[in-house]
Amino acid sequence: METLTINGGMPLYGELNVGGSKNAVLPILAACILTDEEVVIHNAPDISDIDDMLYIMSDLGIKSRRENDTLIINCSGMTSYEISDEHVGKIRSSVVLMGAVIARFHTARLAQPGGCDIGARPIDIHLSALRQMGVNITYEDQCWNCSAEKLSGSNITLPFPSVGATENVILAASMASGQTIIRNAAKEPEIEALQTFINLMGGQISGAGTDTVTITGKSKYHACEYTVIPDRIVAGTYMLMTCGTGGDVLIRNALHEHNRALTECISAMGAHISADGNSIRVRKTRRLNPIEFTQTAPFPGFPTDLQPQLMAVLTLANGTSVIRENIYENRFKAAYSLCALGAQINIQVIDSQTSLAVIRGVDILKGAQIYGTDLRCNAALIIAGLQAHGTTVLHRAHFIERGYENIVNAIKSVGGDITAS
Ligand code: UD1
Repeated sequence: METLTINGGMPLYGELNVGGSKNAVLPILAACILTDEEVVIHNAPDISDIDDMLYIMSDLGIKSRRENDTLIINCSGMTSYEISDEHVGKIRSSVVLMGAVIARFHTARLAQPGGCDIGARPIDIHLSALRQMGVNITYEDQCWNCSAEKLSGSNITLPFPSVGATENVILAASMASGQTIIRNAAKEPEIEALQTFINLMGGQISGAGTDTVTITGKSKYHACEYTVIPDRIVAGTYMLMTCGTGGDVLIRNALHEHNRALTECISAMGAHISADGNSIRVRKTRRLNPIEFTQTAPFPGFPTDLQPQLMAVLTLANGTSVIRENIYENRFKAAYSLCALGAQINIQVIDSQTSLAVIRGVDILKGAQIYGTDLRCNAALIIAGLQAHGTTVLHRAHFIERGYENIVNAIKSVGGDITAS
């Protein structure tokens, strides 16, 4: 998919279904390395980030196959411990392979991950935590060489609740000798999902979802069967899409407790939200209120992964909104294309890590030729295209396939006019 053509301006009505979480399944795939027995993962979305992760794993000698939404992974034939720069460049989440490979083989080689479209994305917190567990890490030829004679449980306090670092430490600690305690751990639902999965394989982890996670290392893990949690970012994107276009959409397989920061925001904008079991209904019948101030933060704060989509919706609010981005320094890229559609957004850089978007609500957006830059930027631009009057052509649309399964058909099923080519 290179281009999406959207004829916007129509409200959406009907039901949408949310698949398994991308950000949960990627570290879970890495965790499969802890065992040489076969692992079965249900509700795995058909998205390109998973294809890329499985491709990288196949290069390490890992076998996998897909049967509909089920993945079957077998790591018994692993032959390599090297994650090359081609791979790290392709999919940033492959960094979590490091903790798992070190756990199982006490050695790993990882190309220095570069920055990406949303920011520099350093891994110093990962490296420092692994060093505390006895991993010797040297840097040579733009690669991190990791080896550990003995991997030891340790008391680790993260300087920031990094999701990736928390996952890497959990993975390494799962096969370390003794107990590891991570303080100031990330509390995202995907960390809990990783805990559930490793415990199903025979692990002993507790505390995920709080800021202290305790892991007791084990020497052996076994086969298991696991069902991936729903993707809270896809659910949130559909919720914001309905707020943007107007209409009434029931989003199935969406967990309210994973999206409270967003539902509070949607209520403040004046759209109706009702949550029932594992579905969320969004109705928007009148022009939205602006959001005076909101900012991205680690869970349970407002997720950086929904910030561009929120910005797209606020372009049409009845007044001025301010969003502060605290996680990634370069995450307002959608603003350029939104302005091409007629939005009024002013970006102010506060410091190397933080910037503000000041969004003055306009009466209408008008279709135009726009250009995607990354996964969540494209989600925002699709919402904007659906809000805009006339035809919007989104170029470089392929990024959306990294994290949204069949989004074109989903949007069509609720009445959106969108075509991929
Ligand atoms: C981040 C999001 C996560 C989201 C994921 C995918 C947060 C806190 N994390 O996770 O919710 O699912 O992107 O888009 O919102 N950092 C360092 N050094 C490190 C690691 C991180 O300085 O070693 C900094 C990053 O530059 C960034 C912040 O910490 O500013 C968040 O990083 P982290 O949570 O590790 O990022 P991801 O794991 O990619």
